Amino acid sequence: MSYVSESFWHDAVNKATTDLFTFGYKHIIKPNFVFNVPPDEAHDRMITFCQLTKNITPLMWLERQMLNYTDPVLETTVMGVDFANPFGLSAGLDKNCEMPVLLDNAGFGFETVGSTTSRVCPGNAKPWFHRLPEYDSMMVHVGLANIGSDTVIERAEQAWTKARSMQISVSIARTNDSLTGDLAEGIEDYCISMRRAAGRTAMVEVNVSCPNTKAGEPFTASPDNLDQLFTALDRIDRPQPTLVKLPLNKPWAELKDLLDVLAEHNVQGLSIANLQKDRTGLAIPHDWEGGLSGGPTYRASNDLIRQVRREYGDRFAIAGIGGVFIPEQAYAKIRSGADLVMFISALMYRGPQQITVLKRGLAELLKRDGFEHVSEAVGADL
Ligand SMILES: Cc1cc2nc3c(=O)[nH]c(=O)nc-3n(C[C@H](O)[C@H](O)[C@H](O)COP(=O)(O)O)c2cc1C
Repeated sequence: MSYVSESFWHDAVNKATTDLFTFGYKHIIKPNFVFNVPPDEAHDRMITFCQLTKNITPLMWLERQMLNYTDPVLETTVMGVDFANPFGLSAGLDKNCEMPVLLDNAGFGFETVGSTTSRVCPGNAKPWFHRLPEYDSMMVHVGLANIGSDTVIERAEQAWTKARSMQISVSIARTNDSLTGDLAEGIEDYCISMRRAAGRTAMVEVNVSCPNTKAGEPFTASPDNLDQLFTALDRIDRPQPTLVKLPLNKPWAELKDLLDVLAEHNVQGLSIANLQKDRTGLAIPHDWEGGLSGGPTYRASNDLIRQVRREYGDRFAIAGIGGVFIPEQAYAKIRSGADLVMFISALMYRGPQQITVLKRGLAELLKRDGFEHVSEAVGADL
């Protein structure tokens, strides 16, 4: 295996093209093709771009040569899964699994597709998104729109088989539609998707914390409800590790009761955390519905990562999510206790090359502080 970091010329080309992409995204692409249209339309354009380009093999080869920074210091094994680097796309941007080829060639360590649901789900009425550039944030109110977990998981399995280096996780959630019933119906909904996912992806993430659904969040409302869900999921035989996507805004005493339940079940990891519901101090129009991504999640998610790592030690692997735009922020999440780091907002606000900026910068920070592998830095600040 040859690494970009160890080849003078490849490293120089990779750095120069990343800088060029950073400049091009900021000054040409973002103002003229992304931020000049409403965010819902920009999102559709991005998906169409992925669909059109993923089969152009020379373009994907070029993308890999230019953007995929590799360095042995970034390699890690978490929950028994090997990652080329700890960075992943968080759930929600690629709901229907259209982006793996581009993300694999850009050098993502993994991506989470979904959230996907047992039935085709139309989601909430549009608009789904509002931009808040002053806070590096998006207001998100999609309500789990997706084409259904039978198709999404089929696509995810194919993409995982074909990926050159990227792992694929699938986020499963409860269908948000007019057929939504009682707790038992909700549990069966998750079980259908879990049965479909068993053995077909590197990981499964169970999203119990979507803030934008008709049924609310019954599985984080009481430890007993959560226990019933995971007792049912435990009966489904699956080889891959399971993560649970936590809410960001629960008081610690309530969250701890939920974590005590999860610790008794077949759960290996926690994704910390979902969107920010607290708008305190932020100037946001009252009629904008949804949860906040990006900047407003950063501190709260770091605090939660630290608290969970302190209280639960190595019981759970942690995927840290929220407000990661620059390498220092990813490093802070890792030093707070995250084994893996996921993001979305940085792609929209900084551009697709940000994966390379994050990897290169993190590798430098790790080496500066004398770490030989990223895993050695996990929880270093505790
Ligand atoms: C466009 C968009 C859609 C999202 N949809 C989901 C989703 O379907 N499931 C989920 O668990 N989280 C979803 N999220 C939350 C993200 O996975 C992540 O937790 C949050 O955006 C914080 O990360 P960031 O600051 O890097 O954006 C979504 C976020 C965004 C921006």
